[in-house]
Amino acid sequence: MSTTATITLPTVRPLEPPIGSEIDFGAQIDGVDLENLTDEQFASIRKALYNHHVVVFKNQHKLSPKAQYELTKRFDPVSESYGHGKTIDAKRSILHPDLKTVPHQPQVQVIGNGFVPSYEGLENVQLKHPHHRTFHKDHVPDEKDYDFTRFYRWHIDAALYGLHPPQVTTLLAVNVPKGRRQTLLYDDGSEETMDVPLGTTAFVSGQRMYDLLSPEDQEFVRTSKVEYAPHPYIWMSSARSRSTGLGMHSEGRELPDSELPPIDTEKIMVYPMCWKNPETGKLSLQIHPSAVHKIHLADGTVIDDLERVRDIVYKLQRPAISPQYVYPHDWEDGDLVLFNNRGVLHSVVGAFKPDEVRLFRQCNLAGSEPPVGP
Ligand SMILES: [Fe+2]
Repeated sequence: MSTTATITLPTVRPLEPPIGSEIDFGAQIDGVDLENLTDEQFASIRKALYNHHVVVFKNQHKLSPKAQYELTKRFDPVSESYGHGKTIDAKRSILHPDLKTVPHQPQVQVIGNGFVPSYEGLENVQLKHPHHRTFHKDHVPDEKDYDFTRFYRWHIDAALYGLHPPQVTTLLAVNVPKGRRQTLLYDDGSEETMDVPLGTTAFVSGQRMYDLLSPEDQEFVRTSKVEYAPHPYIWMSSARSRSTGLGMHSEGRELPDSELPPIDTEKIMVYPMCWKNPETGKLSLQIHPSAVHKIHLADGTVIDDLERVRDIVYKLQRPAISPQYVYPHDWEDGDLVLFNNRGVLHSVVGAFKPDEVRLFRQCNLAGSEPPVGP
């Protein structure tokens, strides 16, 4: 028997799309110990991530917060702080008002639903799953709430003010309530619906979003940029979302500058509409639809009519969130999902009962560099 240590590389198996689905992303990775990753194993995970965008590692119940943080950081070794930094004015921000930080690993956050007596140094934690009722203009009626659901908010994990978007996000399912399924309604006149597992996380591909556009629109998105609102999650806090969770209605409800925390104009972010994949060079249409504020055209013109800006972005993005392009991950305890935050959009989904306990750990780190355009 040889005593030479052999390095086993992880196996990568693309996800089998269900009947009727046209998703071309997602993979399961097996055969790797995430607590003790070699450089070669990491290189193969990185390659899989940038080719498949959403990768799933099963049975990671025992993964430590430290190993989760280290895997996340390995995609951007210079990055250090949580993707949203320190939440200024957390009371008015629409982001997880009850986000809990793991005390011994502050870049890792605990999210979910229900009461958790004790977890990773946190005691008596009350978690609340976001509900579209608090964000959408109109809602699924209360009596239908446990049977029907919506996409809550399509987004990129990103502060979009003073910090660059994280390269990747890791989500670990510690505890998942199982059993129910829900019908997801688009409620936008399209009559599109989807059968989804309770509390799924839904993903769509930015690359597909780009590929579905006409040649003229592809030219437009390759040459235009998006300016995000200052303090976007406070700015939009009184505004209301479209029923598809894909951006906001324009009703003049955004907070004026005078009601925002002080604005440092250097922190206002202007990014290309398309971001280049660091492994394949392919373009993804990556726009955070609810935080978008202005469009900068190739000739220097700036479109600052918010309603028009949102309508333009909506028309570009909507085709790619139709059911056949959505991957609704069916969470099982121990799933670790690693996703290319610069190549997909994702959304929380689902309406839980108060006693349905869901416990997840999330980690992402503000990017050390801005996204690269075409
Ligand atoms: Fe997210």
